[in-house]
Amino acid sequence: MLEMNNITKVFNPGTPNEKTALEDFSLKVSDGDFITVIGANGAGKSTLFGAIAGDYIPDRGSIILNNKNVTLQPSYVRARVIGRLFQDPMRGTAPGMTIEENLSLAAGRGGWLGSITRADRERFIEKLSPLGMGLEYRMTQPVGLLSGGQRQALTLMMATMNKPEILLLDEHTAALDPATAEIVLNLTKEIVERDKITCLMVTHNMQSALDLGNRTIMMDRGKVIYDVSGDERKGLTVPDLLNKFKEAAGEALNNDRMLLTK
Ligand SMILES: Nc1ncnc2c1ncn2[C@@H]1O[C@H](COP(=O)(O)OP(=O)(O)OP(=O)(O)O)[C@@H](O)[C@H]1O
Ligand SMILES: [Mg+2]
Repeated sequence: MLEMNNITKVFNPGTPNEKTALEDFSLKVSDGDFITVIGANGAGKSTLFGAIAGDYIPDRGSIILNNKNVTLQPSYVRARVIGRLFQDPMRGTAPGMTIEENLSLAAGRGGWLGSITRADRERFIEKLSPLGMGLEYRMTQPVGLLSGGQRQALTLMMATMNKPEILLLDEHTAALDPATAEIVLNLTKEIVERDKITCLMVTHNMQSALDLGNRTIMMDRGKVIYDVSGDERKGLTVPDLLNKFKEAAGEALNNDRMLLTK
């Protein structure tokens, strides 16, 4: 379980660029929750993920992950139990290392060629074959040669190879062409549901926000302004979401990527 209690994060305090990215933000995430996160540009969605992952220490508030207070824990310690994907496919894998070396690193097997056993290779091939991207035939090629979609699929495999306590997906399909984005999104759904991974996914696609997961939160100005699950969520449409935003925020949703997506 993840618990965020009254988190506040102000960037550049005391300067003309002062920005409150999270304001008294609280959220309880149950084990197995798959929460989609939507909101205006600059609402604080990525800052929220940064707080969970330990990119910075919040100015106020506490973060409890599986009954442990991790508020002050450095990000590299948290990274062992937190899986994370970004919009940029270049993040999350080492481009100069081969596919099998990257997978070996993710599996905690060392990552260098000599440490990869035949059994490891068989396991990696088993993981890659169902992707249908042919990566299992390219195990000894550097990851830098892969397309963006292939890299995101590989990063997803790596982030979930040892079940993370929480998986953070920050618009991880936004930089992909629509067909590839759909493949990666379907793969995400499959893995998260199959392994019952607790997951937070920021998306600019409001239909995906409703189709995937069991709960949706909408953010504006560093706060949750709408939090929906269960039967109320099942009946929701994209226009309903837009109305909810307007109702709660007092103005129409302003997110260029979101409004450009059908
Ligand atoms: N490192 C930083 N330094 C200064 N300001 C920052 C920093 N990171 C974020 N901000 C500001 O904090 C606010 C929240 O940013 P954040 O990236 O969390 O928004 P977001 O909801 O992810 O937006 P988007 O939909 O554009 O990705 C924005 O006003 C942003 O400019
Ligand atoms: Mg963001």
